[in-house]
Amino acid sequence: MSDKHDAIDDLLLERRKFPPTESFKKDAHVVGTHLYDEANTDYEAFWARQAAELVEWTEPWHTVCEWELPFAKWFIGGKLNVSWNCLDRHVLAGRGDKVALHFEGEPGDTRTVTYAALLDEVQRFANVLKGLGVGRGDRVNIYLPMIPEAAVAMLACARIGAAHSVVFGGFSSQALADRINDAEAKVLVTADGGWRRGEVFPLKPQADEALRDTPSITAVVVVRRGGIEVPMTRGRDHWWHDLMAGADPVCPAEPMDAEQLLFLLYTSGTTGKPKGIMHTTGGYLTHVTYTHKYVFDIHPETDVYWCTADVGWVTGHSYIVYGPLSNGATQVMYEGVPNHPGNDRMWQIVEKYGVTIFYTAPTAIRTYMKWGIEEPAKHDLSSLRLLGSVGEPINPEAWMWYHEHIGGGRCPIVDTWWQTETGGIMISPLPGATTTKPGSATFPLPGVGAEVLDDEGRIVTKGGGYLTLTHPWPGMLRGIWGDPQRYTDTYWSRFAGRYFAGDGAKLDDEGYLWLLGRVDDVMNVSGHRISTTEVESALVSHPSVAEAAVVGANDATTGQAIIAYVTLVGGASADEQDLRNHVAREIGAIAKPKTIYFTPDLPKTRSGKIMRRLLRDVAEGRNLGDTTTLADASVVNELQKRAAEAPTED
Ligand code: WT7
Repeated sequence: MSDKHDAIDDLLLERRKFPPTESFKKDAHVVGTHLYDEANTDYEAFWARQAAELVEWTEPWHTVCEWELPFAKWFIGGKLNVSWNCLDRHVLAGRGDKVALHFEGEPGDTRTVTYAALLDEVQRFANVLKGLGVGRGDRVNIYLPMIPEAAVAMLACARIGAAHSVVFGGFSSQALADRINDAEAKVLVTADGGWRRGEVFPLKPQADEALRDTPSITAVVVVRRGGIEVPMTRGRDHWWHDLMAGADPVCPAEPMDAEQLLFLLYTSGTTGKPKGIMHTTGGYLTHVTYTHKYVFDIHPETDVYWCTADVGWVTGHSYIVYGPLSNGATQVMYEGVPNHPGNDRMWQIVEKYGVTIFYTAPTAIRTYMKWGIEEPAKHDLSSLRLLGSVGEPINPEAWMWYHEHIGGGRCPIVDTWWQTETGGIMISPLPGATTTKPGSATFPLPGVGAEVLDDEGRIVTKGGGYLTLTHPWPGMLRGIWGDPQRYTDTYWSRFAGRYFAGDGAKLDDEGYLWLLGRVDDVMNVSGHRISTTEVESALVSHPSVAEAAVVGANDATTGQAIIAYVTLVGGASADEQDLRNHVAREIGAIAKPKTIYFTPDLPKTRSGKIMRRLLRDVAEGRNLGDTTTLADASVVNELQKRAAEAPTED
């Protein structure tokens, strides 16, 4: 164990290694270090080459990057249209009949959308938006289920230079109203409802609730998806299909300035009002096209790609809509939950479409672990050749399970670290070039600079600390909508000249990066700074444990004590003392949880991140703070009850 003055202690040791296989390397885009070497020589020139090769411009840029800390501009003077890059260029190249989206509705209905059909719909909807008074520089709010119309609406905005602001369909009417008002959006695109767990969840009624107090909205477009009866306000509300039927099918893509606002996406953060993260056109498209191509080793002619995120999150923006379509890929888009009608729905879809690349979140993987290996075993998953993970640190055991039971032991796994703010993937293996270690996101991608710092801002070469980004990158956020000061304070003030991501990370003796979770979650036990991630990973490495959440609760003797909440694998049982000893064996006695609660579920945000702040409230017997981002409130109520009943042990 390292010295106790480390910013974050380094406890977990993982020695397993997975070099790229010969068969994967045979057709991989990158097998050696040449991209790294090139980018290390001159990262701006490297990104400029990617921009020129992967994206089509109607006018070239004159300046690659202008960096006035903390404000960056990329490809200044360049002009391009994102929807043209995602659609027209593929159709013009004769690939109009290629499938862009295999849409799978939750009830089992399907739609096959080719590039030509998608272009047609996007042009029509762009004209619909124009007809509703939307023009360059305006904002459009999108509040839709996971249906092709979500991509159509986003691309139509991009075509005419309006910025979209997508709000996840699971958010409340209040959250929607706040986001509409902050962005001062002109038009809202929504649906009657969408399918979820065998039922239609209403969206339009929620939207109506929000629209009571959103003076900037002048028109609402409603997609019919759920088939439920919804009120329509005359003069303001229009059916999507009515407007589309009358729309002009031709809408030329207008060249946009490289720094034209492409979208706003709100992140809640831990406190305060949601931040409207700003992403622009040329740099963002370059970043997502490049990362989607090389991290997922996309071969558009043969691959069937599936990212299970929702378009309401940045993953859906960058790796369902913009990256894959810019690369001309064929992908699956699934509307519903993973356990309808059965716990094998995802694997049934993989088999049905012959999915080759599957990108999901650790929280989902741990849920599949809980459901048992018999679910994936019901299906032929032999089409898969690459797996991805995003959203949280992936515990080594979850990585191994994914590798073995989904990837059949043959698929490389790319653990991709990035954020809403970074726009695209920053730290990840390149699957044909990087030897992976279960639980490590490995190295910064070519073109990305990342370093770990200690409390005083000194560079850490081995051990734990704070993850920082050392220079600008094309997909970086351009600011927070309406609040430049908050942008500077939040991301650029902790360490001079660097972007601080808010995450802890450690470097091992071979220079591999291991993400350790949010630094706000780091626990201080008798002066040792212990990351929740490492204790959780130690718990998950016990064969009976599917998922664990760990928090530090105030303790008179040790400052903080480790409290663990554990979910067991279906059918398994476990003894608290046994689990505590297991943690001690895996990473050391200092990390032994003081108390372990067994629970069938953990409190999570709607995007699947564990809400440790709430668990801290529970552990310290406090009233719960803000619970509006919680996906299922009953989970914490149950935990609170148990905490009140349980004797505290030692
Ligand atoms: C935060 C960003 C990135 C798109 C989805 C989430 C955590 C994300 C990883 C990973 C460890 C990860 C970080 C980051 N995170 N990917 N591969 N390993 N942690 O976007 O909601 O903006 O969240 O998610 O804590 O800061 P987001």
